[in-house]
Amino acid sequence: MTLMITFDILTLLPEFFDSPLKQSVIGRSIESGILCVTLRNIRDYSTDKHRSVDSAPYGGGAGMVMRVEPVAAAIEAARAAAKALGKKATVILLTPQGEQFSHKKAVELSGLEYLVLVCGRYEGFDERIRGYVDLELSIGDYVLAGGEVAALAVIDAVGRLVPGVLGDIESVKHESFSDGALEYPQYTRPENYKGARVPEVLLSGNHALIDRWRSEQSRRRTLVRRPELSVGSDEFSGDDTKKNIK
Ligand code: ADE
Repeated sequence: MTLMITFDILTLLPEFFDSPLKQSVIGRSIESGILCVTLRNIRDYSTDKHRSVDSAPYGGGAGMVMRVEPVAAAIEAARAAAKALGKKATVILLTPQGEQFSHKKAVELSGLEYLVLVCGRYEGFDERIRGYVDLELSIGDYVLAGGEVAALAVIDAVGRLVPGVLGDIESVKHESFSDGALEYPQYTRPENYKGARVPEVLLSGNHALIDRWRSEQSRRRTLVRRPELSVGSDEFSGDDTKKNIK
Protein backbone atom coordinates (compact mmCIF):
# COMPACT_ATOMS: atom_id res chain seq x y z
CA MET A 1 0.00 0.00 0.00
CA THR A 2 1.35 3.42 -0.84
CA LEU A 3 1.45 5.94 1.95
CA MET A 4 -0.29 9.16 1.16
CA ILE A 5 -0.67 12.37 3.06
CA THR A 6 -3.23 15.14 2.73
CA PHE A 7 -2.55 18.78 3.54
CA ASP A 8 -5.82 20.62 4.11
CA ILE A 9 -4.92 24.32 4.09
CA LEU A 10 -7.15 26.90 5.75
CA THR A 11 -6.33 30.38 4.51
CA LEU A 12 -7.75 33.71 3.45
CA LEU A 13 -5.39 33.66 0.46
CA PRO A 14 -5.80 30.37 -1.42
CA GLU A 15 -4.12 31.87 -4.53
CA PHE A 16 -0.96 32.27 -2.46
CA PHE A 17 -0.34 28.54 -2.98
CA ASP A 18 -0.93 28.42 -6.75
CA SER A 19 2.63 28.55 -7.96
CA PRO A 20 4.62 27.00 -5.06
CA LEU A 21 2.57 23.81 -5.08
CA LYS A 22 3.16 23.33 -8.80
CA GLN A 23 6.96 23.33 -8.52
CA SER A 24 9.58 20.62 -8.37
CA VAL A 25 9.25 17.45 -6.27
CA ILE A 26 6.23 18.67 -4.29
CA GLY A 27 4.42 19.70 -7.50
CA ARG A 28 5.15 16.36 -9.15
CA SER A 29 4.04 14.41 -6.05
CA ILE A 30 0.75 16.27 -5.94
CA GLU A 31 0.33 15.56 -9.65
CA SER A 32 1.02 11.85 -9.12
CA GLY A 33 -1.21 11.59 -6.03
CA ILE A 34 1.43 10.78 -3.39
CA LEU A 35 0.61 14.12 -1.77
CA CYS A 36 -2.84 15.60 -1.76
CA VAL A 37 -3.68 19.26 -1.13
CA THR A 38 -7.06 20.81 -0.34
CA LEU A 39 -7.44 24.56 -0.10
CA ARG A 40 -10.21 26.00 2.04
CA ASN A 41 -10.94 29.72 2.05
CA ILE A 42 -11.77 30.65 5.66
CA ARG A 43 -14.03 33.42 4.33
CA ASP A 44 -16.33 30.75 2.86
CA TYR A 45 -17.11 29.68 6.45
CA SER A 46 -18.18 33.13 7.61
CA THR A 47 -21.92 33.35 7.93
CA ASP A 48 -22.49 37.04 8.62
CA LYS A 49 -23.75 39.51 6.01
CA HIS A 50 -20.29 40.83 5.15
CA ARG A 51 -18.56 37.44 5.37
CA SER A 52 -16.23 39.01 7.90
CA VAL A 53 -13.29 37.04 9.21
CA ASP A 54 -11.73 39.60 11.54
CA SER A 55 -12.76 42.17 14.06
CA ALA A 56 -11.32 44.74 16.46
CA PRO A 57 -9.84 43.37 19.69
CA TYR A 58 -11.84 43.58 22.90
CA GLY A 59 -10.00 45.85 25.30
CA GLY A 60 -8.73 47.99 22.45
CA GLY A 61 -5.37 48.06 20.74
CA ALA A 62 -3.97 48.14 17.25
CA GLY A 63 -4.99 45.90 14.38
CA MET A 64 -7.62 43.28 13.82
CA VAL A 65 -8.05 39.82 15.27
CA MET A 66 -9.24 36.71 13.40
CA ARG A 67 -12.70 35.71 14.56
CA VAL A 68 -13.33 32.32 16.13
CA GLU A 69 -16.56 31.40 14.27
CA PRO A 70 -15.29 31.15 10.67
CA VAL A 71 -11.97 29.58 11.70
CA ALA A 72 -13.65 27.01 13.97
CA ALA A 73 -16.19 26.21 11.23
CA ALA A 74 -13.42 25.74 8.65
CA ILE A 75 -11.51 23.46 11.05
CA GLU A 76 -14.64 21.42 11.69
CA ALA A 77 -15.22 21.09 7.94
CA ALA A 78 -11.64 19.88 7.50
CA ARG A 79 -12.03 17.36 10.34
CA ALA A 80 -15.26 16.10 8.74
CA ALA A 81 -13.54 15.78 5.33
CA ALA A 82 -10.79 13.68 6.93
CA LYS A 83 -13.33 11.51 8.71
CA ALA A 84 -15.24 10.92 5.46
CA LEU A 85 -12.01 9.48 4.05
CA GLY A 86 -11.58 7.28 7.13
CA LYS A 87 -8.62 9.40 8.25
CA LYS A 88 -7.74 11.18 11.45
CA ALA A 89 -7.05 14.89 11.12
CA THR A 90 -4.24 16.62 12.99
CA VAL A 91 -4.96 20.34 13.16
CA ILE A 92 -1.93 22.65 13.22
CA LEU A 93 -2.07 26.37 13.88
CA LEU A 94 0.82 28.32 12.31
CA THR A 95 1.84 31.02 14.76
CA PRO A 96 5.07 32.60 16.02
CA GLN A 97 3.92 31.49 19.49
CA GLY A 98 4.01 27.81 18.50
CA GLU A 99 6.52 25.04 19.16
CA GLN A 100 9.62 25.47 16.99
CA PHE A 101 9.28 23.44 13.78
CA SER A 102 12.24 21.11 13.25
CA HIS A 103 13.41 18.13 11.22
CA LYS A 104 12.33 15.88 14.09
CA LYS A 105 8.84 17.37 13.97
CA ALA A 106 8.76 16.98 10.17
CA VAL A 107 9.60 13.28 10.51
CA GLU A 108 6.84 12.88 13.10
CA LEU A 109 4.28 14.66 10.91
CA SER A 110 5.28 12.71 7.78
CA GLY A 111 3.89 9.59 9.47
CA LEU A 112 0.43 11.12 9.82
CA GLU A 113 -2.29 10.93 7.20
CA TYR A 114 -4.21 14.20 7.25
CA LEU A 115 -2.70 17.52 8.30
CA VAL A 116 -4.87 20.61 8.59
CA LEU A 117 -2.75 23.77 8.39
CA VAL A 118 -4.44 26.89 9.75
CA CYS A 119 -2.97 30.13 8.39
CA GLY A 120 -3.76 33.42 10.06
CA ARG A 121 -3.58 36.99 8.76
CA TYR A 122 -4.11 40.20 10.72
CA GLU A 123 -2.66 40.79 14.17
CA GLY A 124 -3.50 37.41 15.62
CA PHE A 125 -6.13 34.82 16.44
CA ASP A 126 -8.96 35.04 18.91
CA GLU A 127 -7.55 32.99 21.77
CA ARG A 128 -10.54 30.62 21.65
CA ILE A 129 -9.34 29.29 18.27
CA ARG A 130 -6.56 27.52 20.18
CA GLY A 131 -9.19 25.21 21.65
CA TYR A 132 -9.83 23.75 18.16
CA VAL A 133 -6.27 22.80 17.27
CA ASP A 134 -4.02 19.88 18.19
CA LEU A 135 -0.69 21.61 17.76
CA GLU A 136 0.83 25.08 17.25
CA LEU A 137 3.96 25.46 15.14
CA SER A 138 6.35 28.35 14.54
CA ILE A 139 8.95 28.30 11.77
CA GLY A 140 11.20 30.78 13.57
CA ASP A 141 11.46 33.73 15.91
CA TYR A 142 10.18 36.38 13.55
CA VAL A 143 6.70 37.53 12.61
CA LEU A 144 5.45 36.84 9.10
CA ALA A 145 2.55 38.76 7.57
CA GLY A 146 0.60 35.52 7.69
CA GLY A 147 0.87 31.77 8.21
CA GLU A 148 0.97 30.91 4.48
CA VAL A 149 4.75 30.95 4.12
CA ALA A 150 5.01 28.85 7.29
CA ALA A 151 2.47 26.35 5.92
CA LEU A 152 4.52 26.06 2.72
CA ALA A 153 7.65 25.39 4.78
CA VAL A 154 5.83 22.60 6.65
CA ILE A 155 4.42 21.10 3.43
CA ASP A 156 7.86 21.15 1.80
CA ALA A 157 9.77 19.72 4.78
CA VAL A 158 7.14 17.07 5.59
CA GLY A 159 6.19 16.25 2.00
CA ARG A 160 9.73 15.41 0.90
CA LEU A 161 9.96 12.81 3.70
CA VAL A 162 6.93 10.89 2.41
CA PRO A 163 8.16 7.73 0.66
CA GLY A 164 8.15 8.17 -3.11
CA VAL A 165 8.35 11.96 -3.09
CA LEU A 166 12.14 12.05 -3.49
CA GLY A 167 13.62 9.68 -6.05
CA ASP A 168 16.70 8.89 -3.99
CA ILE A 169 15.91 7.97 -0.38
CA GLU A 170 19.69 8.02 0.35
CA SER A 171 19.74 11.80 -0.02
CA VAL A 172 17.36 12.13 2.94
CA LYS A 173 19.47 9.76 5.05
CA HIS A 174 22.63 11.87 4.90
CA GLU A 175 21.29 15.40 4.79
CA SER A 176 21.60 17.91 7.63
CA PHE A 177 19.61 17.14 10.81
CA SER A 178 18.69 13.60 9.72
CA ASP A 179 21.08 12.25 12.37
CA GLY A 180 21.04 15.35 14.55
CA ALA A 181 24.08 16.89 12.83
CA LEU A 182 24.81 19.15 9.87
CA GLU A 183 25.69 17.48 6.61
CA TYR A 184 29.32 17.12 5.50
CA PRO A 185 30.63 19.40 2.70
CA GLN A 186 29.75 18.34 -0.82
CA TYR A 187 31.64 18.90 -4.07
CA THR A 188 30.99 18.28 -7.74
CA ARG A 189 32.78 19.12 -11.02
CA PRO A 190 35.25 20.68 -11.63
CA GLU A 191 38.05 19.24 -9.49
CA ASN A 192 39.79 22.60 -9.51
CA TYR A 193 37.85 25.86 -9.61
CA LYS A 194 40.18 28.87 -9.76
CA GLY A 195 42.60 27.13 -7.42
CA ALA A 196 39.96 25.85 -4.96
CA ARG A 197 40.46 22.10 -5.13
CA VAL A 198 38.18 19.24 -4.18
CA PRO A 199 39.66 17.47 -1.10
CA GLU A 200 41.94 14.67 -2.27
CA VAL A 201 40.15 12.01 -0.18
CA LEU A 202 36.96 12.40 -2.26
CA LEU A 203 38.89 11.52 -5.41
CA SER A 204 40.59 8.51 -3.81
CA GLY A 205 37.87 5.96 -4.51
CA ASN A 206 38.42 4.61 -0.97
CA HIS A 207 34.89 4.55 0.39
CA ALA A 208 35.80 3.62 3.95
CA LEU A 209 38.13 6.62 4.05
CA ILE A 210 35.52 8.87 2.43
CA ASP A 211 32.87 7.80 4.97
CA ARG A 212 35.28 8.52 7.82
CA TRP A 213 36.21 11.94 6.41
CA ARG A 214 32.56 12.83 5.93
CA SER A 215 31.46 11.91 9.44
CA GLU A 216 34.44 13.82 10.84
CA GLN A 217 33.56 16.89 8.79
CA SER A 218 29.92 16.59 9.79
CA ARG A 219 30.92 16.51 13.48
CA ARG A 220 33.29 19.46 13.20
CA ARG A 221 30.87 21.55 11.18
CA THR A 222 28.08 20.92 13.66
CA LEU A 223 30.32 21.79 16.59
CA VAL A 224 31.42 25.09 15.03
CA ARG A 225 28.18 26.26 13.46
CA ARG A 226 25.56 24.73 15.72
CA PRO A 227 27.24 23.76 19.00
CA GLU A 228 23.86 23.30 20.65
CA LEU A 229 23.26 20.31 18.33
CA SER A 230 26.55 18.65 19.23
CA VAL A 231 26.54 15.88 21.75
CA GLY A 232 29.55 14.84 23.76
CA SER A 233 32.96 15.57 22.28
CA ASP A 234 34.45 19.03 22.08
CA GLU A 235 37.77 17.79 20.80
CA PHE A 236 37.34 19.43 17.39
CA SER A 237 37.72 23.14 17.13
CA GLY A 238 38.00 23.75 13.43
CA ASP A 239 35.58 23.67 10.54
CA ASP A 240 37.88 23.30 7.51
CA THR A 241 35.29 24.69 5.16
CA LYS A 242 33.99 27.61 7.18
CA LYS A 243 35.84 30.05 4.92
CA ASN A 244 33.56 28.96 2.10
CA ILE A 245 30.47 30.36 3.76
CA LYS A 246 29.15 33.25 1.73
N1 ADE B 1 2.71 33.38 11.37
C1 ADE B 1 3.35 34.56 11.50
N2 ADE B 1 4.62 34.38 11.84
C2 ADE B 1 4.83 33.03 11.93
C3 ADE B 1 5.94 32.21 12.24
N3 ADE B 1 7.13 32.73 12.56
N4 ADE B 1 5.77 30.88 12.22
C4 ADE B 1 4.58 30.34 11.93
N5 ADE B 1 3.49 31.06 11.62
C5 ADE B 1 3.61 32.40 11.61
